[in-house]
Amino acid sequence: MARPKITVVGAGNVGATAAHWAAAQELADVVLVDVVEGMPQGKALDLMQSRPIFGFNVDIVGANDYEPTKNSDVVIITAGIPRKPGMSREDLINTNKNIVSAVTKEVAAKSPDAVLIVVANPLDAMCYVAYKVSGFPKNRVMGMAGILDTARYRCFIAMELGVAVEEIQAMVLGGHGDEMVPVVSATNISGVPLTDLLPSDKIAALVERTKKGGGEIVALLKTGSAYYAPAAAAVQMAEAILKDQKKLVPVSAYLEGEYGLNNLFFGVPVILGADGIEKILTLKLTEDEEALLQKSAAAVAKTRDELKM
Ligand code: NAI
Ligand code: 2OP
Repeated sequence: MARPKITVVGAGNVGATAAHWAAAQELADVVLVDVVEGMPQGKALDLMQSRPIFGFNVDIVGANDYEPTKNSDVVIITAGIPRKPGMSREDLINTNKNIVSAVTKEVAAKSPDAVLIVVANPLDAMCYVAYKVSGFPKNRVMGMAGILDTARYRCFIAMELGVAVEEIQAMVLGGHGDEMVPVVSATNISGVPLTDLLPSDKIAALVERTKKGGGEIVALLKTGSAYYAPAAAAVQMAEAILKDQKKLVPVSAYLEGEYGLNNLFFGVPVILGADGIEKILTLKLTEDEEALLQKSAAAVAKTRDELKM
């Protein structure tokens, strides 16, 4: 039986790291595509040469065209410019709209049955571009953000409490912007509500740090944005799809009435499996959380409207 195939478009920081982790976990053969001549080929060959040391056995190919991507099962779209200090994710909209449109056209033609995982920013708007350009059904187009934002939230809680990070169950919903909503009512530590373990001012500070989590790293790196945790999150989504894991995770999904929202990609809890988004779940939120979610949705809808498509 042939191995599954993951294509990663954009062999920069997020793309190359995602290729590395997908290959090291032997999830699939990996094709790495970029417009820069030689760069994806060089990174792919370098990764191939790490196989004897780590002992993983999949093929990694680099390319500047889409022929080797044919019949991919999952395509991760990281092509686009990242933000620099002082820039919001929304500042990237016009450049990345053109890049994501061009990339989507190519991958959809070569891999008509693939699941698309969009990473480029502004995330929810770029999902909309990929959905419209690909013509794929809504279950096969999604965005990576909620798993990353939730990982940051879980990490900050674990650091504050001094507990193992895997004990922390949580969910960050909404758009991938500063209005995202860490759902405190759905946060617990091995079943114990976070609100029982920390005072409200400490929780508010963790929520605030999570919302600015991407910006914190941009300010430190100065030349680009985060990539280890983003790549890990994208690879976890690919794994859930390729292994039909039925994982309950937040992703940016196309909404048609859920949470009272329409024609919008937005971060919501879903079941991820072989068919991509197999189900969207509706969480019971507090009144305050519901209001924050609607505020986030208004910001995402504004960016979608700027796409004019
Ligand atoms: P990067 O600059 O390191 O890599 C981007 C790569 O895309 C470059 O190698 C560039 O040559 C390539 N590229 C540009 N146009 C292309 C095209 N038409 N076809 C193929 N490749 C093309 O940037 P990085 O850090 O990897 O970030 C990529 C994108 O992902 C950015 O838009 C960034 O904002 C976004 N991002 C989103 C996250 C999320 O949570 N959704 C998290 C981290 C990054
Ligand atoms: C992040 O949250 C820049 O969206 C990217 O790190």
